[in-house]
Amino acid sequence: MSTIATLESVKVQSYIDIEEKYGAHNYHPLPVVLERGEGIYVWDVEGKRYFDFLSAYSAVNQGHCHPRIINAMITQAQTLTLTSRAFHNNLLGATEEFMATLFGYDKVLMMNTGVEAVETAIKLVRKWAYMVKGVEKNKARILFASNNFHGRTTTVISASNDPTAREGFGPFMPGIDSVAYNDLDALKRELASDPNIAGFIVEPIQGEAGVFVPDEGYLAGVAAICKEYNVLFVADEIQTGIARTGSLLATCGECNCKSGECNQSKVTKPDMIILGKALSGGAMPVSAVLCNDDIMLNIKPGEHGSTFGGNPLACAVTLEALQVVIDEDLAGNAKRMGEIFRAGLREIAKRNPIITLVRGKGLLNAIVIEDGGHKDLAWDICMVFRDNGLLAKPTHTNKIRLAPPLVINEDQIYEALAIIEKSLKRFM
Ligand SMILES: Cc1ncc(COP(=O)(O)O)c(C=O)c1O
Repeated sequence: MSTIATLESVKVQSYIDIEEKYGAHNYHPLPVVLERGEGIYVWDVEGKRYFDFLSAYSAVNQGHCHPRIINAMITQAQTLTLTSRAFHNNLLGATEEFMATLFGYDKVLMMNTGVEAVETAIKLVRKWAYMVKGVEKNKARILFASNNFHGRTTTVISASNDPTAREGFGPFMPGIDSVAYNDLDALKRELASDPNIAGFIVEPIQGEAGVFVPDEGYLAGVAAICKEYNVLFVADEIQTGIARTGSLLATCGECNCKSGECNQSKVTKPDMIILGKALSGGAMPVSAVLCNDDIMLNIKPGEHGSTFGGNPLACAVTLEALQVVIDEDLAGNAKRMGEIFRAGLREIAKRNPIITLVRGKGLLNAIVIEDGGHKDLAWDICMVFRDNGLLAKPTHTNKIRLAPPLVINEDQIYEALAIIEKSLKRFM
């Protein structure tokens, strides 16, 4: 049981109660009710300001309500929002060209939520398996990494090994299996054992698993092994992409180039990338899959789509959201601020042994907590963070993800570190 008693104000509790009464109980939010956001901050219904150290699970990389993104959104919303793909629109081609050039692929397929883009990637891998690789009809297999998180549809949870995500939702999609993450030998064994394996879909850093960063060289190894066995390497960069880990894509490695421009990205460059979340700066659901023609063009008219995918509003917002990432050098800032932040967390860990591990890259970070068997400790810590003006959420019981918007500056990092240290002192 949680040891932190929470007594919310009548006003706050009334918002929580109405959600509880009329909404499905498919989430367990921290008891805070937000009504406004700007940059790295959000404000609750009573006017209290918080540092947002979740960034809507890395969707708000550009900061809340970035004025350029919101302006682009308003202007386009007053012009044209949706045509469906029954007709062309004047922004889709330009947006596809911008993304294809920026990320270094021939083609783009735009969808809406992240999980839809993962579904799209699965369909593209299967089509490629039958049309190009020569796998016998309905025999294609796709591997995922264990402890992954790729979203919530029945197909995608078929790749999950999290009992909470799966229990009660079977039967699961056939042709989907998993292999240990960060284990190149295991991947090689699997791929060698079955020529029907057509793709390996993997997060460059596992976010939901508690910001698990694989060993140096893992992604390059994945790329090489997939190439050796004619298997598509598909990187789910929905959480790690768009500058979050200190480069435009996590698969770009240490450099700040556009994907495909430097040697390092050439060795780790996936056959396909999946993007979502911060593609729109958190303003609306926009996702995309990028790959080259030999993969993308296997899908023909009528075989895949979405009413809203590639709509003019999404295009205008995405163009501006990506331009903001470039103009404000958010990758460089994430890299610099991430180093300062992790160094600060490691100093706190020296003074407070409750932190057993600090890990992450760029501004996707986590602390691992020594919970001494008290399974609600990370939750309780997040409640005290909240009381002290910082919002974060536990993941997988004893880990707390710390991922502010990438527009954060050095003074704000130190202020946040002070809140974290003060809060953790309560648990010494
Ligand atoms: C790596 C990864 N893939 C896919 C998804 C699913 O995205 P969405 O919630 O937009 O469907 C998430 C969401 O957290 C994610 O982190």
